[in-house]
Amino acid sequence: MAIRHFLSTLDWSRSELDGILTDAAELKATRKTARPAHLAGKSVALVFFNPSLRTRSSFEIGVFEMGGHAVVLEPGKGAWPIEYRDGVVMNAEAEEHVEEVARVLSRYCDLICVRAFPKFQRWEDDREDLVIRQFAKYATVPVVNMETITHPCQELALMLALKERLGTTDGKKLVLTWTYHPKPLNTAVANSALIIAAKFGFDVTLLCPTPEYVLDSRYMDAARASAAENGRTVTVSHDIESAYAGAHVVYAKSWGALPYFGRWEEEKPIRDRHQHFMVDAQKMSLTDNAFFSHCLPLRRNVKATDEVVSGPRSLVIEEAENRLHVQKALMKRLASTPSSG
Ligand code: CP
Repeated sequence: MAIRHFLSTLDWSRSELDGILTDAAELKATRKTARPAHLAGKSVALVFFNPSLRTRSSFEIGVFEMGGHAVVLEPGKGAWPIEYRDGVVMNAEAEEHVEEVARVLSRYCDLICVRAFPKFQRWEDDREDLVIRQFAKYATVPVVNMETITHPCQELALMLALKERLGTTDGKKLVLTWTYHPKPLNTAVANSALIIAAKFGFDVTLLCPTPEYVLDSRYMDAARASAAENGRTVTVSHDIESAYAGAHVVYAKSWGALPYFGRWEEEKPIRDRHQHFMVDAQKMSLTDNAFFSHCLPLRRNVKATDEVVSGPRSLVIEEAENRLHVQKALMKRLASTPSSG
């Protein structure tokens, strides 16, 4: 039987994702009184190539709360550096190949979760998502994306928070706004927010400084296809006032412009000219009393003001909390599926 990985929500239907969200809401509601041991006797490998606060904590604690055991591995820092490409002469830094890593971990564990950010040198390479795709190719247990070029667990957490507050998401307006950050950041969360919002029936406005900040066509096209299915729209805007007008949700994220991948010194002047994209109370006043959220970590008074982040419409803490619940529901589902290991 084919293994069901969780690499991107593009591979999962809205009703399947809704099922995970329903289960997550139930786990959340009953957490104080019941801790069903859905992972009893099971182990989960958490493989981190990049730093984390929320992802590491919420996965480790989620496994613990369901009676399982999590092992955290940091290749190149306590675990051997890994080669991902097939058929290469391994005479550089890597001590072992992902084929052995994924197959060995599959003999020990019931799930393998991977965080591997892009290298930020050539988008044409990074968009292949090689690290996690190679884990998925060689693993004989399900592989979960803990953020690569998308962040599907963050998508579930966001959507749970929005469903809790809005009830139905269909027909609501979500603005995905680029915000300033002094460094170019991963497009993963922006890609994810775009595709999940469109999948769940929002009218989505992508607000960004210039056309160069539009996201990869794979995600733009997928969002447009979902929107068409739902009778909704995806709009690209560079105009702050009209983008915020009437919004029910403002989701903020900073990301690097794809045409400048690996040439960040050329992108910096454009980014620096758009520091006014920071989310503030004046912009929020243009909305329909919108909720604000962000995946965190967030630089206050750079990406969004204190007033917005700590304000009554901010969902940043709820979204972060929901990481725990949605990942528990996801791991419960994936670990109960028979693997080929
Ligand atoms: N949102 C998120 O993934 O946070 P961390 O990078 O701290 O895990």
